[in-house]
Amino acid sequence: MSEQPATPPGTHEKREHWSGQTAFILAAIGSAVGLGNIWRFPGQAYENGGGAFMIPYVIALLTAGIPILFLENAIGHRFRGSAPLAMRRVARRAEGVGWFHVAICFVIGLYYTVIIGWAVSYFFFSFNLDYAEDPATFFARDFLQLGEPGTVSLTFVPSVLIPLVAVWVVTIVILALGLHNGVERLNVVGIPLLVVTFGILVVRALMLDGAAEGVEALFTPDFSALRDPQVWIAAYGQVFFSLSLAYGVMLTYASYRRRRSNITAPGLVVAFGNSSFEILAGVGVFATLGFLAHQQGIAVADLEGLTGVQLSFITFPTVIAQMPGGQIFGALFFGSLVVAGLTSLISVLQAVSSALQDKFGWHPRGSAVAVGIVSAVLSVIGFGTTTGLFLLDVVDQWSNQLGIVAGAVAMIAASLWFAGRSSELQRHLAAVSTLRPGRGWLILVNVVALLLLSMFVQKTTTLINDGYEGYPGWYLAVFGWGTLAFLLAAALAMPLLRWRRNIARFHVWPTRAQLGLPDHPHDEYEPEGRPR
Ligand code: PHE
Repeated sequence: MSEQPATPPGTHEKREHWSGQTAFILAAIGSAVGLGNIWRFPGQAYENGGGAFMIPYVIALLTAGIPILFLENAIGHRFRGSAPLAMRRVARRAEGVGWFHVAICFVIGLYYTVIIGWAVSYFFFSFNLDYAEDPATFFARDFLQLGEPGTVSLTFVPSVLIPLVAVWVVTIVILALGLHNGVERLNVVGIPLLVVTFGILVVRALMLDGAAEGVEALFTPDFSALRDPQVWIAAYGQVFFSLSLAYGVMLTYASYRRRRSNITAPGLVVAFGNSSFEILAGVGVFATLGFLAHQQGIAVADLEGLTGVQLSFITFPTVIAQMPGGQIFGALFFGSLVVAGLTSLISVLQAVSSALQDKFGWHPRGSAVAVGIVSAVLSVIGFGTTTGLFLLDVVDQWSNQLGIVAGAVAMIAASLWFAGRSSELQRHLAAVSTLRPGRGWLILVNVVALLLLSMFVQKTTTLINDGYEGYPGWYLAVFGWGTLAFLLAAALAMPLLRWRRNIARFHVWPTRAQLGLPDHPHDEYEPEGRPR
């Protein structure tokens, strides 16, 4: 590597760029703020100790969220590529780790879209309050036309299918417009819009009768929860999902920053911005639930359906139906879900598309359209049917709960333990950023990896021993473990294919010498033109 002269930043690079730091921050917040903030966080917090959950949550954010965000940003920024390319430059054998992340993104994209599609429908239903009479029956029977859990059906449900296809079309168009005109614009418009609409919603929610009791229920601490390891696992899980960590998304987004870019300070803005939105969502959702409890004359604790799909599509519609001005409230809520979801969805697909561009030299537009169309077809076939909800539940559990933990450990192990890039990444961050992480950062990342490893073992054991939600064994084998097998297959097979670009034509900056480090044995910037 050192025969080549140090390249000034910027040359030799055809990679797309954000137009500036603000665009990057908005895009990263766009990825982070998603369904996880609006429908996952409030339920998680409530179930895991209420106000006391804030303690493990904040600890998880500081000890794992921010350190891993810095790590991903450092890898993407220094090695300037999508997950597979950047990991390949970390160490030749680490390429598969990048593909593992890309495969998770691909899988998530397939069903994240489905939920956005539901939200689109509910946005329109809100104007006439179509769901008002009996939201639970409306959702399961009239809207999803649910079949039997643990079966596979190919009966399509038009009311799910049409918005799903529409979401895919919009997504493909945005991706095809490119990083600058598509992804960046969506976020620059979408995130401020989201903050305003959601802000209005929260203010309105706080003015409802019973709002105070709702918020109190969310924040009343149950300190005994802190002794339960599951609560801690939930906190770490929430932080990872919510900050889009270990998906290769933050890595890819950082690779679009210019070489001379402050990495850590914007990272903090993203992390704290995301958590602020999350807590705001918690307040809004629980204020609303307080109103519902008040209407029914019961305590918030006695309400049912406070998490996930039920919270958004059954409990919320129930409240909306009883509320003065429910139509507007409903439209604001589902509109916010759509915008928050879309900016996250775009980020996972960009991570996939970017990897294919890097590997096969595809043009950004072609790659975006190819990824979009293949995903759209699979998404429609898998999730547009009467059994889509169950499939979503199982695939999510294996890819998002299990796969992601494995992916995070693999990334840390490959870059720090096997390739020995600790000092290099730490000094890289320190060289380009205003806020300079020290050794403490590395210690945290290593400890987190051990913690994640134990979480992985625990989760795997539970899934093997107890199955999941009573689904039949064959179903979990095919769609749960099968998903994991797909991720592994991608990680093993993709590195066998040839790079269609000369990835050796690359210079790191600052060079290792500039960082005060000796040459690295894994730096394989080969003589140009040598086939591999
Ligand atoms: N962070 C997003 C959310 O909170 C989800 C997501 C995960 C987005 C992974 C991109 C990648 O909903």
